[in-house]
Amino acid sequence: PTPLIIDTDPGVDDAFAIALAALSVDVELLGITTVFGNVPLEATTLNARRVLALCGRADVPVAAGAARPLVHAQLQRASHVHGSDGLSGRSAALPEPVRALEPGGAVGLLVSLLEAAAEPVTIAPIGPLTNIALLLAAHPEVREKIARIVVMGGGLAGGNTTGAAEFNIWSDPEAARRVLVEEPVPCVLVPMDLTYRCAVDSTWLGKLAASGPIGTALEALTPDYLAHYRKALGWDGIVLHDAVAVAEAIRPGILQTESYPIEVECSQGPARGATLVDRRRQALRADAEGDVAPGRVEVSVDTDLEGLRGFILE
Ligand code: BDR
Ligand code: CA
Repeated sequence: PTPLIIDTDPGVDDAFAIALAALSVDVELLGITTVFGNVPLEATTLNARRVLALCGRADVPVAAGAARPLVHAQLQRASHVHGSDGLSGRSAALPEPVRALEPGGAVGLLVSLLEAAAEPVTIAPIGPLTNIALLLAAHPEVREKIARIVVMGGGLAGGNTTGAAEFNIWSDPEAARRVLVEEPVPCVLVPMDLTYRCAVDSTWLGKLAASGPIGTALEALTPDYLAHYRKALGWDGIVLHDAVAVAEAIRPGILQTESYPIEVECSQGPARGATLVDRRRQALRADAEGDVAPGRVEVSVDTDLEGLRGFILE
Protein backbone atom coordinates (compact mmCIF):
# COMPACT_ATOMS: atom_id res chain seq x y z
CA PRO A 1 0.00 0.00 0.00
CA THR A 2 1.10 3.59 -0.75
CA PRO A 3 2.42 5.36 2.35
CA LEU A 4 0.48 8.61 2.84
CA ILE A 5 0.40 11.64 5.16
CA ILE A 6 -2.56 14.04 5.04
CA ASP A 7 -2.21 17.70 6.01
CA THR A 8 -5.69 19.05 6.68
CA ASP A 9 -8.10 21.68 8.09
CA PRO A 10 -11.37 19.76 8.67
CA GLY A 11 -13.79 20.90 7.19
CA VAL A 12 -16.60 18.62 5.95
CA ASP A 13 -14.83 17.54 2.77
CA ASP A 14 -11.60 17.08 4.74
CA ALA A 15 -13.49 14.73 7.07
CA PHE A 16 -14.59 12.68 4.06
CA ALA A 17 -11.03 12.68 2.71
CA ILE A 18 -9.58 11.49 6.04
CA ALA A 19 -12.17 8.72 6.27
CA LEU A 20 -11.43 7.68 2.69
CA ALA A 21 -7.73 7.21 3.50
CA ALA A 22 -8.31 5.80 7.00
CA LEU A 23 -10.56 3.04 5.64
CA SER A 24 -8.79 2.29 2.36
CA VAL A 25 -6.84 -0.96 2.04
CA ASP A 26 -4.74 0.57 -0.77
CA VAL A 27 -2.99 3.02 1.50
CA GLU A 28 -0.90 3.07 4.64
CA LEU A 29 -1.97 6.21 6.49
CA LEU A 30 1.20 7.15 8.39
CA GLY A 31 -0.08 10.29 10.07
CA ILE A 32 -2.16 13.43 9.95
CA THR A 33 -0.99 17.00 10.45
CA THR A 34 -3.41 19.86 10.96
CA VAL A 35 -3.43 23.50 9.93
CA PHE A 36 -5.66 26.57 10.39
CA GLY A 37 -8.12 27.09 7.55
CA ASN A 38 -11.82 26.39 7.41
CA VAL A 39 -11.95 27.04 11.18
CA PRO A 40 -9.18 27.86 13.71
CA LEU A 41 -6.41 25.33 14.38
CA GLU A 42 -7.82 24.05 17.68
CA ALA A 43 -11.06 23.07 15.98
CA THR A 44 -9.44 21.56 12.86
CA THR A 45 -7.17 19.47 15.10
CA LEU A 46 -10.01 18.21 17.28
CA ASN A 47 -12.09 17.44 14.18
CA ALA A 48 -9.28 15.42 12.57
CA ARG A 49 -8.80 13.39 15.75
CA ARG A 50 -12.54 12.76 16.07
CA VAL A 51 -12.81 11.53 12.48
CA LEU A 52 -9.94 9.09 13.13
CA ALA A 53 -11.72 7.90 16.30
CA LEU A 54 -14.89 7.37 14.23
CA CYS A 55 -12.88 5.25 11.80
CA GLY A 56 -11.29 3.20 14.59
CA ARG A 57 -7.80 4.47 13.69
CA ALA A 58 -6.25 5.33 17.07
CA ASP A 59 -3.00 3.97 15.61
CA VAL A 60 -2.61 7.06 13.37
CA PRO A 61 -0.59 9.88 15.00
CA VAL A 62 -1.87 13.47 14.73
CA ALA A 63 0.14 16.67 15.23
CA ALA A 64 -1.03 20.27 15.13
CA GLY A 65 0.75 22.77 12.89
CA ALA A 66 0.41 26.38 11.85
CA ALA A 67 -2.31 28.54 13.40
CA ARG A 68 -1.83 31.36 10.89
CA PRO A 69 -0.30 32.05 7.46
CA LEU A 70 3.46 32.49 6.97
CA VAL A 71 3.57 36.20 6.25
CA HIS A 72 0.26 38.02 6.23
CA ALA A 73 -2.27 37.53 9.00
CA GLN A 74 -5.20 37.00 6.65
CA LEU A 75 -7.58 34.97 8.75
CA GLN A 76 -10.88 34.75 6.94
CA ARG A 77 -12.53 31.44 7.83
CA ALA A 78 -14.97 29.31 5.91
CA SER A 79 -17.42 28.70 8.75
CA HIS A 80 -20.18 30.05 6.50
CA VAL A 81 -19.48 26.98 4.32
CA HIS A 82 -18.54 24.27 6.85
CA GLY A 83 -20.50 25.43 9.94
CA SER A 84 -19.33 27.07 13.18
CA ASP A 85 -17.17 24.11 14.28
CA GLY A 86 -16.10 23.10 10.75
CA LEU A 87 -18.44 20.10 10.67
CA SER A 88 -21.90 21.64 10.27
CA GLY A 89 -22.11 22.23 14.04
CA ARG A 90 -22.15 18.44 14.50
CA SER A 91 -18.57 17.66 15.51
CA ALA A 92 -19.59 16.85 19.09
CA ALA A 93 -21.66 13.95 17.75
CA LEU A 94 -18.45 12.20 16.72
CA PRO A 95 -16.56 10.01 19.20
CA GLU A 96 -13.99 11.72 21.42
CA PRO A 97 -10.34 11.32 20.34
CA VAL A 98 -8.65 8.25 21.73
CA ARG A 99 -5.00 9.05 21.10
CA ALA A 100 -3.08 12.02 22.53
CA LEU A 101 -1.72 14.67 20.16
CA GLU A 102 1.93 14.21 19.15
CA PRO A 103 4.07 16.67 21.12
CA GLY A 104 6.50 17.67 18.33
CA GLY A 105 4.11 19.66 16.16
CA ALA A 106 3.27 19.15 12.48
CA VAL A 107 6.75 19.73 11.07
CA GLY A 108 8.28 17.47 13.74
CA LEU A 109 5.86 14.65 12.92
CA LEU A 110 6.34 15.07 9.16
CA VAL A 111 10.12 14.89 9.51
CA SER A 112 10.09 11.84 11.76
CA LEU A 113 7.58 9.95 9.57
CA LEU A 114 9.50 10.78 6.40
CA GLU A 115 12.86 9.86 7.90
CA ALA A 116 11.52 6.54 9.16
CA ALA A 117 9.74 5.60 5.91
CA ALA A 118 11.16 2.67 3.97
CA GLU A 119 9.91 4.08 0.66
CA PRO A 120 9.01 7.58 -0.59
CA VAL A 121 5.81 8.93 0.91
CA THR A 122 2.88 10.75 -0.72
CA ILE A 123 1.76 13.91 1.09
CA ALA A 124 -1.77 15.19 0.49
CA PRO A 125 -2.20 18.78 1.66
CA ILE A 126 -5.92 19.59 1.63
CA GLY A 127 -5.81 22.91 3.48
CA PRO A 128 -3.56 26.01 3.37
CA LEU A 129 0.02 25.02 2.49
CA THR A 130 1.71 26.62 5.52
CA ASN A 131 2.94 23.41 7.20
CA ILE A 132 4.35 22.01 3.96
CA ALA A 133 6.18 25.26 3.14
CA LEU A 134 7.68 25.28 6.65
CA LEU A 135 8.72 21.63 6.28
CA LEU A 136 10.49 22.15 2.94
CA ALA A 137 12.11 25.40 4.06
CA ALA A 138 13.48 23.96 7.31
CA HIS A 139 14.24 20.40 6.18
CA PRO A 140 15.23 20.34 2.50
CA GLU A 141 16.88 16.96 3.11
CA VAL A 142 13.47 15.26 3.38
CA ARG A 143 12.59 16.15 -0.22
CA GLU A 144 14.02 12.85 -1.44
CA LYS A 145 11.66 10.95 0.87
CA ILE A 146 8.61 12.56 -0.78
CA ALA A 147 7.11 10.63 -3.71
CA ARG A 148 4.53 13.28 -4.63
CA ILE A 149 2.65 16.15 -3.05
CA VAL A 150 -1.00 15.96 -4.13
CA VAL A 151 -2.48 19.38 -3.39
CA MET A 152 -6.18 20.23 -3.36
CA GLY A 153 -6.18 23.84 -4.39
CA GLY A 154 -6.30 26.50 -7.03
CA GLY A 155 -8.61 27.30 -9.87
CA LEU A 156 -7.91 27.52 -13.59
CA ALA A 157 -10.93 29.67 -14.29
CA GLY A 158 -11.22 31.78 -11.16
CA GLY A 159 -11.78 31.05 -7.49
CA ASN A 160 -14.34 30.42 -4.78
CA THR A 161 -13.06 32.80 -2.09
CA THR A 162 -12.48 35.73 -4.43
CA GLY A 163 -13.11 36.03 -8.13
CA ALA A 164 -9.48 35.02 -8.65
CA ALA A 165 -8.51 32.74 -5.77
CA GLU A 166 -9.46 29.36 -4.37
CA PHE A 167 -9.65 29.09 -0.56
CA ASN A 168 -6.58 26.94 0.21
CA ILE A 169 -4.23 29.01 -1.94
CA TRP A 170 -5.83 32.32 -0.93
CA SER A 171 -5.38 31.42 2.77
CA ASP A 172 -1.56 31.45 2.43
CA PRO A 173 -0.35 32.41 -1.06
CA GLU A 174 3.30 32.76 0.01
CA ALA A 175 3.30 29.19 1.36
CA ALA A 176 1.56 27.91 -1.77
CA ARG A 177 4.13 29.64 -3.97
CA ARG A 178 7.00 28.09 -2.01
CA VAL A 179 5.59 24.58 -2.44
CA LEU A 180 4.15 24.74 -5.95
CA VAL A 181 6.57 27.07 -7.70
CA GLU A 182 9.89 27.12 -5.89
CA GLU A 183 10.46 23.63 -4.52
CA PRO A 184 11.82 20.88 -6.78
CA VAL A 185 9.34 18.28 -5.55
CA PRO A 186 6.80 16.53 -7.78
CA CYS A 187 3.41 18.20 -7.24
CA VAL A 188 -0.02 17.28 -8.50
CA LEU A 189 -2.58 20.08 -8.32
CA VAL A 190 -6.24 19.14 -7.97
CA PRO A 191 -8.02 22.41 -8.77
CA MET A 192 -11.61 23.34 -8.01
CA ASP A 193 -12.48 23.24 -11.72
CA LEU A 194 -12.26 19.44 -11.54
CA THR A 195 -13.53 18.99 -7.97
CA TYR A 196 -16.77 20.82 -8.80
CA ARG A 197 -17.38 18.39 -11.66
CA CYS A 198 -16.98 15.52 -9.16
CA ALA A 199 -19.78 16.83 -6.89
CA VAL A 200 -22.02 14.18 -5.31
CA ASP A 201 -25.81 14.48 -5.05
CA SER A 202 -28.30 13.61 -2.33
CA THR A 203 -28.80 10.11 -3.80
CA TRP A 204 -25.08 9.43 -3.32
CA LEU A 205 -25.27 10.82 0.23
CA GLY A 206 -28.27 8.60 0.91
CA LYS A 207 -26.29 5.54 -0.17
CA LEU A 208 -23.43 6.61 2.10
CA ALA A 209 -25.79 7.01 5.06
CA ALA A 210 -27.24 3.55 4.42
CA SER A 211 -23.81 1.90 4.19
CA GLY A 212 -23.21 1.48 7.94
CA PRO A 213 -22.42 3.45 11.10
CA ILE A 214 -19.39 5.31 9.70
CA GLY A 215 -21.27 6.32 6.56
CA THR A 216 -24.23 7.43 8.68
CA ALA A 217 -21.95 9.56 10.89
CA LEU A 218 -20.22 11.16 7.88
CA GLU A 219 -23.49 11.97 6.16
CA ALA A 220 -24.69 13.57 9.41
CA LEU A 221 -21.86 16.13 9.09
CA THR A 222 -23.21 17.57 5.84
CA PRO A 223 -26.32 19.73 6.55
CA ASP A 224 -24.64 23.17 6.65
CA TYR A 225 -22.31 22.24 3.80
CA LEU A 226 -25.27 21.02 1.75
CA ALA A 227 -27.15 24.24 2.49
CA HIS A 228 -24.15 26.23 1.24
CA TYR A 229 -23.97 24.35 -2.06
CA ARG A 230 -27.73 24.45 -2.46
CA LYS A 231 -27.39 28.22 -2.36
CA ALA A 232 -24.16 28.40 -4.38
CA LEU A 233 -24.95 25.84 -7.09
CA GLY A 234 -28.72 25.71 -6.85
CA TRP A 235 -28.86 21.92 -6.55
CA ASP A 236 -28.94 19.19 -3.92
CA GLY A 237 -25.35 18.09 -3.63
CA ILE A 238 -21.94 18.79 -2.14
CA VAL A 239 -18.44 19.17 -3.51
CA LEU A 240 -15.96 16.75 -1.91
CA HIS A 241 -12.91 18.76 -3.05
CA ASP A 242 -10.46 17.14 -0.65
CA ALA A 243 -11.67 13.58 -1.13
CA VAL A 244 -11.00 13.95 -4.87
CA ALA A 245 -7.36 14.82 -4.15
CA VAL A 246 -6.98 12.01 -1.61
CA ALA A 247 -8.48 9.56 -4.13
CA GLU A 248 -5.61 10.49 -6.47
CA ALA A 249 -3.11 10.11 -3.62
CA ILE A 250 -4.45 6.60 -2.95
CA ARG A 251 -4.89 5.54 -6.60
CA PRO A 252 -2.33 7.37 -8.75
CA GLY A 253 -3.86 7.98 -12.17
CA ILE A 254 -7.52 7.98 -11.08
CA LEU A 255 -7.34 11.63 -12.20
CA GLN A 256 -5.91 12.51 -15.61
CA THR A 257 -3.19 15.11 -15.42
CA GLU A 258 -1.30 17.42 -17.78
CA SER A 259 2.04 19.09 -16.98
CA TYR A 260 2.02 22.91 -16.94
CA PRO A 261 4.10 25.77 -15.60
CA ILE A 262 2.43 27.49 -12.67
CA GLU A 263 2.71 30.77 -10.76
CA VAL A 264 0.94 31.89 -7.59
CA GLU A 265 -0.04 35.54 -7.31
CA CYS A 266 1.31 36.95 -4.03
CA SER A 267 0.59 40.64 -4.53
CA GLN A 268 -1.88 42.41 -2.26
CA GLY A 269 -4.05 43.23 -5.27
CA PRO A 270 -7.39 41.77 -6.29
CA ALA A 271 -5.78 38.64 -7.78
CA ARG A 272 -3.97 37.65 -4.55
CA GLY A 273 -3.93 33.87 -4.23
CA ALA A 274 -4.70 33.17 -7.88
CA THR A 275 -3.00 30.18 -9.51
CA LEU A 276 -1.76 31.07 -12.99
CA VAL A 277 -1.53 27.82 -14.91
CA ASP A 278 0.08 28.49 -18.27
CA ARG A 279 -1.86 26.42 -20.76
CA ARG A 280 -0.47 27.98 -23.91
CA ARG A 281 0.47 25.37 -26.49
CA GLN A 282 4.25 25.64 -26.01
CA ALA A 283 3.86 25.27 -22.27
CA LEU A 284 2.80 21.66 -22.84
CA ARG A 285 6.37 20.64 -23.72
CA ALA A 286 7.64 18.53 -20.83
CA ASP A 287 11.05 19.15 -19.34
CA ALA A 288 13.60 17.61 -21.74
CA GLU A 289 15.45 15.61 -19.09
CA GLY A 290 12.26 14.41 -17.46
CA ASP A 291 13.51 16.02 -14.25
CA VAL A 292 11.23 17.66 -11.78
CA ALA A 293 11.30 21.25 -12.96
CA PRO A 294 10.47 23.80 -10.28
CA GLY A 295 7.48 25.87 -11.30
CA ARG A 296 5.88 23.01 -13.21
CA VAL A 297 3.06 20.89 -11.78
CA GLU A 298 0.83 18.07 -12.92
CA VAL A 299 -2.62 19.62 -13.14
CA SER A 300 -5.62 17.29 -12.80
CA VAL A 301 -7.93 18.05 -15.66
CA ASP A 302 -10.36 15.15 -15.98
CA THR A 303 -11.54 11.83 -14.55
CA ASP A 304 -14.17 9.14 -14.99
CA LEU A 305 -16.72 11.00 -12.83
CA GLU A 306 -18.94 8.02 -12.03
CA GLY A 307 -15.91 5.79 -11.40
CA LEU A 308 -14.49 8.32 -8.97
CA ARG A 309 -17.78 8.77 -7.09
CA GLY A 310 -18.07 4.97 -6.86
CA PHE A 311 -14.52 4.66 -5.54
CA ILE A 312 -15.10 7.21 -2.78
CA LEU A 313 -18.42 5.58 -1.79
CA GLU A 314 -16.86 2.13 -1.72
C1 BDR B 1 -11.04 23.90 -0.24
O1 BDR B 1 -11.37 24.90 0.72
C2 BDR B 1 -11.90 24.31 1.88
O2 BDR B 1 -13.03 25.01 2.31
C3 BDR B 1 -12.19 22.88 1.55
O3 BDR B 1 -12.01 22.05 2.69
C4 BDR B 1 -11.22 22.55 0.45
O4 BDR B 1 -9.98 22.11 0.98
C5 BDR B 1 -11.92 24.09 -1.46
O5 BDR B 1 -11.71 25.33 -2.03
CA1 CA C 1 -9.74 21.44 3.31
